[in-house]
Amino acid sequence: MTYSRILGTGSYLPARVVHNTELEEVMETSDSWIRERTGIVSRHYAADGETTVDMAEVAAKRAIEAAGISAADIDLIVFATATPDLVFPNAGVMLQARLGCRGGPAFSVEAACSGFIYALSIADKFVRSGEAKHALVVGSETLTRITDFTDRTTAILFADGAGAVVLSASQQPGVLSTHLHSDGHYQDLLYCTGGVSKGYEPGTGNRAFIRMAGREVFKVAVTMLGNVVDEVLAANNLQKSDIKWLVPHQANIRIIQAVAKKLDMSLDNVIITVQEQGNTSAASVPLALDTGIRDGRIKPGDLVLLEAFGGGFTWGASLVRM
Ligand SMILES: CC(C)(COP(=O)(O)OP(=O)(O)OC[C@H]1O[C@@H](n2cnc3c(N)ncnc32)[C@H](O)[C@@H]1OP(=O)(O)O)[C@@H](O)C(=O)NCCC(=O)NCCS
Repeated sequence: MTYSRILGTGSYLPARVVHNTELEEVMETSDSWIRERTGIVSRHYAADGETTVDMAEVAAKRAIEAAGISAADIDLIVFATATPDLVFPNAGVMLQARLGCRGGPAFSVEAACSGFIYALSIADKFVRSGEAKHALVVGSETLTRITDFTDRTTAILFADGAGAVVLSASQQPGVLSTHLHSDGHYQDLLYCTGGVSKGYEPGTGNRAFIRMAGREVFKVAVTMLGNVVDEVLAANNLQKSDIKWLVPHQANIRIIQAVAKKLDMSLDNVIITVQEQGNTSAASVPLALDTGIRDGRIKPGDLVLLEAFGGGFTWGASLVRM
């Protein structure tokens, strides 16, 4: 039996750190409101000209190094992003060229903040079926390029960064199960205003911006993530106490707390990065996973639950033995 296993992780955050107090200067908000409602204290913004693929390249090289393989060994790239450099070539192909590997399939996955869980699920199926030996799974975003800095209800949340994992064929179980869901009936609650085919809103200078009904998103996110946690436990015949670490999408500390409560889990067992990273969409889960592994909290053999929720809505979870 062939399984897929995470061999190495890597991440990258742009140099520029933007504290809540800096946002206070450009919009009607306050450090205390942002901390209390979201848990965010600061976040990273990409430099002018620094792109989603630029950030992914650094994260990917770190993951490949941690995995102890070479870039030439990568035979599949699945790249989750809502903010690709170009319409095409896809971000996966652009990353493939930067890494110097060639020939294997490389493509991008668009599932907003759930993108990394979707990408991991796809790569897991390639690896388990024998179609790939070393898959690179990436989440990278320059969300500040689609952030409306005149909208205080969204501008305080979103940020930039990248994370990556090398998922390799193994005789030992690694990814134990993945669970993906979506419901397009909720698309008006969280979306981006423009795109190539639909066009752009007049007066936006052909720019597209994130729009969100925050309170409604919050309620559905907590419900759906609670459901998918139950699904993971049932599918693997596990008790809540069997899960060692929760690595959640970092949208809001209150959503993270609700999922931890559902698992009867102490926040000490949750990798939380939202306070200094904000919401980096598809990058947030691999960024948090890399953080927990590199600081020594997540150890080989630990059972880890990854979960995410995003625009669409899309949501999903994956149970992984490290
Ligand atoms: C966005 C979010 C933080 C807002 O928090 P909330 O507690 O729901 O706040 P509300 O939207 O009800 O707004 C409460 C008040 O704060 C105000 N407010 C909104 N943004 C503000 C800001 N940045 N600074 C100060 N006040 C703000 C609102 O105008 C409102 O004022 P009012 O009561 O006078 O009308 C919260 O709804 C949330 O996190 N939702 C989920 C979003 C998310 O995770 N999205 C991504 C999913 S991938």
